[in-house]
Amino acid sequence: MDPNNEKVGIEMKDGVPVSLSFDDVYFSKEGGWDESRYVFVEGNQIPNVLSEIEVVSIGELGFGTGLNLFVTLDLWLGAENPPSLEYFSLEGFPLPKETLLTLNHSFPDKPLWTETLLNSYEEQFQKWEMNPNEREWKTQFFHPKGKAKFHVHLFFGDVGVCLDEFPIIDFWYLDGFSPSKNPKMWSEGTLSKLRNHSKTGTRFATFTAAGFIRRNLEGLGFHIQKQKGFGKKREMLTGVLR
Ligand SMILES: C[S@@+](CC[C@H](N)C(=O)[O-])C[C@H]1O[C@@H](n2cnc3c(N)ncnc32)[C@H](O)[C@@H]1O
Repeated sequence: MDPNNEKVGIEMKDGVPVSLSFDDVYFSKEGGWDESRYVFVEGNQIPNVLSEIEVVSIGELGFGTGLNLFVTLDLWLGAENPPSLEYFSLEGFPLPKETLLTLNHSFPDKPLWTETLLNSYEEQFQKWEMNPNEREWKTQFFHPKGKAKFHVHLFFGDVGVCLDEFPIIDFWYLDGFSPSKNPKMWSEGTLSKLRNHSKTGTRFATFTAAGFIRRNLEGLGFHIQKQKGFGKKREMLTGVLR
């Protein structure tokens, strides 16, 4: 096994990273790009807000390889005159840059990790390993037309610590492995922090349709909609805070 992957408990299967600790994949090679777009981007109705003027904030639980970030960025870059976007994410077990590159190999026709981006991510990752307070990796992208910017803020560390760093979020991407395999990402503590960083009208989307997640989010004031899942998956959840 690659020593970098061994450190974060990753095994490669058909060119896709699989977490040994959570026994789950980071993305699926077949349809992974479309799945991310369907579940998180369209599930949150992001295409509708790209014609608005106000700055939009997205909060993601589980950065992984960055697939959701790049899918969102791709849509934003192709929009006519989008608002500026603030993308907040967190990651407790940052992947080494060699593993991030598997995303580029899986989706060769998409604009993904560049050498410059990888180096800047790695530099911050190393700073954080030496000093856990140095947790924020920041980068930005410019829209080809107009003045809009796409700012990325990725916090390294546990969800319990990193969520406190997020501002009020407009759209949540809940992508923290399956709730049965990673209960901490979906605990009542995590969801109530998420609620505290939401406002009336804040939306969320997630691939899971687990009953206790639906009930807990409902209990926090979210109006839940069950949607058809991606591909063969029967259901997924989206919702809006009332
Ligand atoms: C399904 S993966 C995310 C996939 C990702 N969106 C992608 O495109 O690759 C879930 C991520 O949540 C992270 N994670 C799991 N538990 C965590 C915790 N307690 N705190 C912070 N991150 C955590 C994992 O390391 C993993 O990268």
